Amino acid sequence: MADYVIAIDQGTTSSRAIIFDKAGTIVSTGQLEHEQIFPKAGWVEHDAGEIWKNTREVIGQALSKANVTRHDIAAIGITNQRETTVVWDKNTGEPVYNAIVWQDTRTQNIVDELAKDGGVERFKPIVGLPLATYFAGTKIKWILDNVDGAREKAEAGDLIFGTTDTWVLWNLTGGTDGGVHVTDVTNASRTMFMDLETLEWRDDILEVFGVPKSMLPEIKSSSEVYGHAHTSSLLRETPIAGILGDQQAATFGQAAFQAGESKNTYGTGNFLIFNTGEEIVHSENGLLTTLGYKLGDAKPHYALEGSIAVTGSLIQWLRDNLNLISSAPEVEELARTVEDNGGVFIVPAFSGLFAPYWRSDARGAIVGLTRFANKGHIARAALEATAFQTREVLDAVNADSGVDLTELKVDGGMVANDALMQFQADMLGVPVIRPKVVETTALGAAYAAGLAVGFWSDLDELSANWAEDKRWEPQMDADERERQLRLWKKAVTKTFDWID
Ligand code: G3P
Repeated sequence: MADYVIAIDQGTTSSRAIIFDKAGTIVSTGQLEHEQIFPKAGWVEHDAGEIWKNTREVIGQALSKANVTRHDIAAIGITNQRETTVVWDKNTGEPVYNAIVWQDTRTQNIVDELAKDGGVERFKPIVGLPLATYFAGTKIKWILDNVDGAREKAEAGDLIFGTTDTWVLWNLTGGTDGGVHVTDVTNASRTMFMDLETLEWRDDILEVFGVPKSMLPEIKSSSEVYGHAHTSSLLRETPIAGILGDQQAATFGQAAFQAGESKNTYGTGNFLIFNTGEEIVHSENGLLTTLGYKLGDAKPHYALEGSIAVTGSLIQWLRDNLNLISSAPEVEELARTVEDNGGVFIVPAFSGLFAPYWRSDARGAIVGLTRFANKGHIARAALEATAFQTREVLDAVNADSGVDLTELKVDGGMVANDALMQFQADMLGVPVIRPKVVETTALGAAYAAGLAVGFWSDLDELSANWAEDKRWEPQMDADERERQLRLWKKAVTKTFDWID
């Protein structure tokens, strides 16, 4: 009898494999970072071949650390950085171009061109998303328009597309030897091509983008058996039975299964997801409408999402580009050398601004500098930027849903940062709550896979695994909170209209 489920978490900065037991406890982890490729300002790429190689290796690491074999694993779940676009030749398995990462802004011209007829919201009522460089659709179009011979090959049916869930699944199930070309509803909902009602690709939108339908994977639920690991894999014959985009996976791992429940994940970026149940809610406040999850044949759950492009990656930038700190956790120490931000605000609009502004013309700014400001203030302002952005997203969720959230469940790497979590509670004016297992992204994918094969029996069993680890209560007085927020909003306006 298999005692474990393994989740593959193919993220923006690293790929991981995590083995979970029935209580949802981590048994072992394998992890490898991959290269971030920045060919030009605003361009961000990954080597899809490196990602697949790392994925294979981290599976091996996790199995050997836990001292288990494929016979101990009931199912495989996949979760992934969403929107990141891979186009490859199905006959050779070779990508025709590097993966274009979700943060990449090179497709701004395509967005502007498409928006001429009907504005950036022209497809929003159907797909839930505004036209933006963030989503996969314009990235596929860019590859077809710019890579030599790509359009001809795509039209001949030789090229296929996938976000990294699909890329990993196709390779894990054998690649050119019978690889399965499938995605789940949550990932499909990030392309601009899936109809939220029917959960099918829209021929009319594909035609506008000039993307052949034959390139697209088949859309399946988030929890069912898609295929089995190929004989060349350490996990051979193990069913792959769950796929969820990473933010939806974290929501699932937080057991936020019901309408009205939510979570906020602090990763490379921040993503707040608010479950709206079986109802499709269209935002009037800059949020996205997206798929939450779909379990087999059951009805789908939808969600509102507040996406923030840059949070954790601002700390990496302090480390790698400014050499202000030598490791990410040091930012907290540096921030604690000062009492407050000293009037300094950083608006990290590196990829434009996502929710609630959706301003791709914005670029980052550090404002409020005086001769008094030192690196402690910069570190503090960098941490606070995450909390301010989250506050603005929470305001949008409250406005759209008509109810005020009374607490915020959090997860992801940055929630280990006590100073940030306290400031977050101060900025929101509601408690911030961290669960015992903060690897909720991988856990969510494991849950989806385990449910499909009967390893877990139902959602109640999963809810029972959730346990609180720590909570931060707001301490700042309301006047000071509002003053800080006013200054933040003023700082945001300084980033607009920055493209020449
Ligand atoms: O939409 C992008 C998101 O899925 C990336 O998440 O955790 O890899 O920063 P993460």
